[in-house]
Amino acid sequence: MYRKPVLTVIAILFIASCSKQAEEVDNYDPARDYFTFANTEQFVTEHLALDLDVDFKAEELSGSALQTMRRLDAAATEIVLDTRDLTIASAVIVTAESSAPAEFRLGDTDETLGTPLYITVPVDTGEQFDLVLEYKTSPKSTALQWLPPELTAGGKHAMMFSQSQAIHARSWVPVQDTPAIRITYEATIRTPTSMLAVMSANNDPLTPRTGEYKFEMPQPIPPYLLAIAVGNFYFAPLGENTGVYTEPELLDASVYEFADTQAMLEQAEAMFGPYDWGRYDLLVLPPSFPFGGMENPRLSFITPSLLAGDRSLVSVIAHELAHSWSGNLVTNATWRDGWLNEGMTSYMESRLMEVIYNVERVDEERVLMYNELLLDFERVPEKMQALAPRLDNTDSEDFQGTIHYSKGQLFLEYLEDAFGRKAFDDFLSAYFEEFAFGTITTERFLDYLDERLLSQEGSPVTRAQAEQWTYEPGLPVDARIPVSKNLENAKALAEAWSADEIQLSEVPFEDWSPQARIHFINSIAPDLSFEKLAALDGGLGLSATSNAEIGRTWFIQVAKRRYTAAYEPLEAHLNRYGRGRLIAPVYAALAANGEDLELAREMFERARSAYHPLTNEWIANGLYE
Ligand code: BES
Ligand code: ZN
Repeated sequence: MYRKPVLTVIAILFIASCSKQAEEVDNYDPARDYFTFANTEQFVTEHLALDLDVDFKAEELSGSALQTMRRLDAAATEIVLDTRDLTIASAVIVTAESSAPAEFRLGDTDETLGTPLYITVPVDTGEQFDLVLEYKTSPKSTALQWLPPELTAGGKHAMMFSQSQAIHARSWVPVQDTPAIRITYEATIRTPTSMLAVMSANNDPLTPRTGEYKFEMPQPIPPYLLAIAVGNFYFAPLGENTGVYTEPELLDASVYEFADTQAMLEQAEAMFGPYDWGRYDLLVLPPSFPFGGMENPRLSFITPSLLAGDRSLVSVIAHELAHSWSGNLVTNATWRDGWLNEGMTSYMESRLMEVIYNVERVDEERVLMYNELLLDFERVPEKMQALAPRLDNTDSEDFQGTIHYSKGQLFLEYLEDAFGRKAFDDFLSAYFEEFAFGTITTERFLDYLDERLLSQEGSPVTRAQAEQWTYEPGLPVDARIPVSKNLENAKALAEAWSADEIQLSEVPFEDWSPQARIHFINSIAPDLSFEKLAALDGGLGLSATSNAEIGRTWFIQVAKRRYTAAYEPLEAHLNRYGRGRLIAPVYAALAANGEDLELAREMFERARSAYHPLTNEWIANGLYE
């Protein structure tokens, strides 16, 4: 059966998440992480030391993981770690007095959660000890993509990179894979000589390319922020403590596109408090990177589809940078509280973009985001529309779309309006300070908000109103709906042109941002003739656009309308990009137009070997269910 089209990649992660929570509905505990086997109430890992060989031929990481653990429960004698497709060769427990092999076994595999690893700890081991595991990953590791040279920009060197969020760290490191814990880490990584390894740690831009690299991450992070990449990477500075790593072929373009990164960092510090992480660098990956960006600390991983040549898509950089505060410094306690990572980050992203660019540009982005939110409200079941949903059995196949991003942002904008920008900025800075290097649940956030703002004499917002945002579907009636004069104008002209009231040549596209063009394309009449679609395509060069978001918008329309004249460039778009957001909705629109499900499957089969396994899963879910 064909399921509703999958709109965003993040959405799909939620599908996996929901099924597990569903089983627990009767005694549902909002503060519990249902996506880990780890018994963190008995043992916690505080530090991790990795020593790994990177074997491109076998597509494996192999070596050891030493974790410094603390026993919280004196009676506990068994550690449970998360793994997925790992081979564990040995376990040794080391204390100040002794070092002894420990008994261990893998439990039954759960499709969503992976395989629990049980390790026996003698009662007399004491409160603190090291657990050393020898292990290797599988070529199937869901976190790692091993790229042949053809899938890189240079075409000559292999590459590998990780994507641990939300629950994939366990497929390359045996850990307590839950945001409930934080670890510092160090690592020694051996690669083929001439290749460079980088991690979510202290990368040294001047490191000699010896094939052996050492890292340290002194700030404690949740395991989903463990990250590694190995490839033919080179570095170029962007500012005093910012820079970019990528293949040499993309270095100049990246330096140009992301030139404002240092300014973003400085503005973010001025607005939200000190940046606690040292350097902030970007790693621009090949097209198969499944996301727009991933906020790996000190080193955000970035899709090359942002390289539009005009800096028009850099809000993704502002977003990943903002996660240095919301997410990396103050972390969602469980994935149910994901809106506190993503919604707050989206809010901060917009605030940053206003200062670095201007409010008009950001209002355009706000309106586009709001329109995507309205689409999500149409297809996401009501129970999943709460910012912090309570999930039950009936939800197991559904998802939240981008609701936690955009509704989360609107909630914070609502609070900002109510209390004033100054008071709300003070609130946020205090929040980051208060919860720094800790976790936050929705309920704790509401209590803190209450304490600081809602319970003030004459507060314009009640606790009940705040709870409506976090627990109820849809949007409260007094939400601030974004408006943009530029986009209103683009829409009006699209309608006038659709109705033959004006000529295409009268539309001043040259003066417009890519966002205004996107809004124009989304606003043309549903029954527009193919002649006019051809004129639009020719006039704006849509089928050949080098702006990935314009391409996404155009080819969704092409697929919806069965405008087959542009199916060849549509397939080229599907082969050019691998970021889920840019391609999954195009496949979904083809599959949903009533005629082209088979064609969508054929195109997918031709393209899929170049995509990331996660992206393949998202697309296949839409095409084969
Ligand atoms: N942390 C997310 C990506 C993510 C979310 C990975 C959930 C795995 C599970 C990242 O910060 C993100 O939101 N990326 C967006 C950027 C956009 C909203 C600016 C993306 O990739 O589209
Ligand atoms: Zn994000």
